[in-house]
Amino acid sequence: MAVFDAEKVQGNILRGYPLDRVRHMILEVSDRRRAREFLAAAADGTGEEVPRITRSANWSERPEFCFNIGITFEGLRTLGLPSDQLKTFPTEYTEGMTRRALKLGDFGESAPEHWPAPFDRPDRIHIVASAYANADHHLDDIEKKVAKVFTVLGTRDGRNLPDGKVFFGYRDGISQPRLRHVFDPEHAGDHQIKDPLGTVLLGYQTQLEGIKFTIPTPEDVFRDSAFNAFRVLQQDTEAFETYLTDAAHFLESHRDVARLLPEGAEQNIGGGMSRHDALREVVAAQMCGRWRNGTPYEASPNSDVQDGISLTNYDYSLSSRCPAGSHMRRANPRGGPIVQRVANYTRRMVRRGMSYGPDPETGEHGLLGNFIGANYGAQFEAVMCDWINFGLQDPGITGTNDPLLGANVPETSRFDLTLKGGGHIRLSGFPRFVKTRGGAYTLLPSLPAIRYLSQLTA
Ligand code: HEM
Repeated sequence: MAVFDAEKVQGNILRGYPLDRVRHMILEVSDRRRAREFLAAAADGTGEEVPRITRSANWSERPEFCFNIGITFEGLRTLGLPSDQLKTFPTEYTEGMTRRALKLGDFGESAPEHWPAPFDRPDRIHIVASAYANADHHLDDIEKKVAKVFTVLGTRDGRNLPDGKVFFGYRDGISQPRLRHVFDPEHAGDHQIKDPLGTVLLGYQTQLEGIKFTIPTPEDVFRDSAFNAFRVLQQDTEAFETYLTDAAHFLESHRDVARLLPEGAEQNIGGGMSRHDALREVVAAQMCGRWRNGTPYEASPNSDVQDGISLTNYDYSLSSRCPAGSHMRRANPRGGPIVQRVANYTRRMVRRGMSYGPDPETGEHGLLGNFIGANYGAQFEAVMCDWINFGLQDPGITGTNDPLLGANVPETSRFDLTLKGGGHIRLSGFPRFVKTRGGAYTLLPSLPAIRYLSQLTA
């Protein structure tokens, strides 16, 4: 059994950074000798002109900036990793995000052929380097250093929105896997079961009985690395809010509406609001699985007041009021029932993301998401394909997509709102609210792996 040493693991994997801005730099290695020198200096902090890679180790003081890298399969090849070692990487990573498009729901307007530069040339994307800080000058400084060595194909800037919210108005960043051997003070009140380290890092036991994911060769080098799905997800906030309004109009006159939201309950939503606005919030809450202020719908179906309610410690059952089709229950059914078994926390992922935009010219805005795990096939792709886009976990939702971010079209979309005492009201006619605008599958190499890559000679 490998002995865990957080110093070998890049930062932002086991714990998120307490920093509000990010710049993702999409890089091409045009000079592999200089790229290797950069990696050597970044791993050990030995060059004035090279930012040091931030580790996962705990810090007592807030760092001023952090710096991490993810490397694509093309990047490993370009850095000179020998072909017998390249062959030991998993197929999903080898193919890269664009060739996995169908599994990820990246078709129609979300198809890679519509992605803007630099994501239109995935073969040129070798590294996604990410700088985090609270002040832009740190990000600019890091970008300048990076640009001396690599070709910067493009950048994407993100920031945390006020109150921990994302576009669409939800509070995010509440639920993460709790990992054994990792203390995260920000999630100290979270009592969900602890996941083994193998959920995110290569080389450790996973939650799947007896399964350890294969470590690419050389194993002692790539142990403690993780795989990341970096996604640029455009959100259509106007369409989302418009749909909530339309749905509330429809519900106001529905004969079962009192079983959806009892008369008078609107006083306990958003500090008190009109019946119409409260119904908009109920739809938003059931679509996500949380009220927009973060209160779990499962724990509190008639009120978003958080007094005495844990935001994380709850589970789903057959009689849950949180719809099986909601975003959160699809993405993590927790210990709840799914077809033929219980979900048992088997497809957990670490999520790190910040919002981007709105672009001053186009208005485009959305989420720069990182979905991190030890295995794409068993985690990110399985969730995106089986659960978010096909609903295979529950016969009641099979054939439907996640209402928040699934590949929906108004002609066929449907989502069942749950009612007190059983039964549902069906919503339909909603479009796709989240469109993919780019991304890459990257390896987040361990520190020993970064050093190893820096010493390649081919
Ligand atoms: C723009 C796109 C997205 C938006 C607006 C969004 C929004 C949210 C919100 C508001 C929550 C609840 C907050 C929390 O528990 O921390 C959440 C939870 C979650 N989301 Fe997303 N999400 C997006 C994309 C995705 C994608 C692509 C995945 C990947 C599979 C994903 C997986 C999850 C998971 C695993 C959870 C935690 C569920 C739990 O542990 O109970 N999300 N999301």
